[in-house]
Amino acid sequence: MRLADASIVLTGASGGIGAAAARELVASGARVLLAARDRARLSQLAGTLAADARGGQVAALAVDLATTAGRTQLRDIAIARRANVLVNAAAVPCFGTLADTDEGRIEQAIATNLVAPMALTRALLPHLARQPHAIVLNVGSTLGRLGLPGFSVYAASKFGLRGFTESLRRELAGTGVRVLYLAPRATRTAFNDASVAAYNRATGTREDDPRTVARALVRMLERESAERQLGFPERLAVRLNGLAPRWLDGAFAKHRMQLAPRTAASPKEIM
Ligand SMILES: NC(=O)c1ccc[n+]([C@@H]2O[C@H](COP(=O)([O-])OP(=O)(O)OC[C@H]3O[C@@H](n4cnc5c(N)ncnc54)[C@H](OP(=O)(O)O)[C@@H]3O)[C@@H](O)[C@H]2O)c1
Repeated sequence: MRLADASIVLTGASGGIGAAAARELVASGARVLLAARDRARLSQLAGTLAADARGGQVAALAVDLATTAGRTQLRDIAIARRANVLVNAAAVPCFGTLADTDEGRIEQAIATNLVAPMALTRALLPHLARQPHAIVLNVGSTLGRLGLPGFSVYAASKFGLRGFTESLRRELAGTGVRVLYLAPRATRTAFNDASVAAYNRATGTREDDPRTVARALVRMLERESAERQLGFPERLAVRLNGLAPRWLDGAFAKHRMQLAPRTAASPKEIM
């Protein structure tokens, strides 16, 4: 798709990856509707982007996409702007052992990372199907194909999103709506708190700059490539995991160690 012809709805726009993607999209001449909850952060971003925009127009909507009312509001504005691209990038992190994750966090992660993009896509689909050409791009994760200790809930949300994307792509084959899936690897944004950063360091997990992910996202929209996993060895790991997941089961002791509760020093060590 030629981005200069695109009217894009970008969720998670104020985040590390979302803001970098918004900059690239606006610079490519696209009209972009930014969505996230924090109004102040969003309007600051919209102001900066509008000042830089060459032809591309920017608007912002502060909205909670984990609610039906929020999604309906975004859908109505997207239709008024004749959106032909939906990028689902909003998500919340959920790191920790399952035992340490309360039900509220599980529900929030599934509602935001899985139910919201599915329901928003469904709400916009009749409109997108009326466009000569439209794209839905879902931002997943390496953890949408590879389950790691400490990420059971987050991985469940991203495995779900990938299954949703693949099924919908096949369901809509032959229509004007393309459905794409981008899987970033770990990326340096506020999504990853100090404990995830420590986990990544201890396990040798490399982190990308959000601009790398943003450029990949733009290329995917331009080329309409169905699916892309970023990073090596992540690409190899997800392939192996798809072929024979049990082969990899023994490879995550270092990751588990990062989750072990810090044991108090024994009295002998204190003396
Ligand atoms: N960072 C990584 O290591 C990494 C790796 C792989 C994949 N990803 C994926 O990449 C995407 C972007 O991540 P990021 O690193 O840019 O995260 P981030 O910096 O934390 O940004 C998350 C964005 O989602 C928005 N958001 C969260 N809950 C929302 C809700 N209920 N309604 C509306 N907006 C909501 C946030 O804004 P508000 O808080 O203002 O709502 C923010 O704009 C996510 O889908 C994430 O799963 C990230």
